[in-house]
Amino acid sequence: MTVETHSSKYPVITIDGPSGSGKGTVCFKLAKALNYQLLDSGALYRIVGLQAYQAGLLSNVDKAGNPILDEEKLAILTQSLDIQFTANEADNLIEIYVNGERVESKIRTETVGGYASQVAVFPAVREALLDLQQRMANHSGLVADGRDMGTVVFPNADVKVYLTASAEARAKRRVAQLQLAGEKADYEQILAEIVARDERDENRQASPSKPAPDALVLDSSELDAQVVYEKIKSYCEQQGICF
Ligand code: DC
Repeated sequence: MTVETHSSKYPVITIDGPSGSGKGTVCFKLAKALNYQLLDSGALYRIVGLQAYQAGLLSNVDKAGNPILDEEKLAILTQSLDIQFTANEADNLIEIYVNGERVESKIRTETVGGYASQVAVFPAVREALLDLQQRMANHSGLVADGRDMGTVVFPNADVKVYLTASAEARAKRRVAQLQLAGEKADYEQILAEIVARDERDENRQASPSKPAPDALVLDSSELDAQVVYEKIKSYCEQQGICF
């Protein structure tokens, strides 16, 4: 894939890494502390995954049960979506709208994470989401959360971090989250889903999930969220970001 190199006059901080590494929490806190915009790029792939599922595009499977996806149809679907992120200051959250409908609760499930990872392998889908992501750095500082923020979408970012954790630590966190929400959680099943998703995200041809050569790599397996935040905050300060 050829990608336009993006240069923003506003500061950009990229935090990449697998699901459950704690990126979401740290990105939210950084954006709040700095009064920057927050780009949750995973939400974009989740939206495309859910829309593709609802349009019947994920139901076509080969003899082994693996999905056969039509890249062109997926790209057309992606281009047709009107996606808006709105900061809800009162409730301290980001609202996400697709064609006018609020979607956060629908896209946060493990199942939709799996759909997202399936559609995210296609260069045409990634290309269709690129401009939307890069434009978010045109109006203010940005904290960008994803897999390829520091490698592909914002290669000139001011600060790059790759936040990771063992699959076991991430599965335990997910189980705790689900239990807190009063939902059933099967550790072995969640671990298997995490491992399968990592495998696809890290080994795809198009923009695989990996640290940029100039990223700080941080393993959060043994760290709590506040410590991770403090470490990343002080790294940002070292790189010239003023809080
Ligand atoms: O961060 P998340 O769990 O919401 O992401 C869901 C999926 O979307 C993830 O498994 C891979 C894909 N994704 C991606 O390919 N590139 C990104 N920048 C963000 C997410």
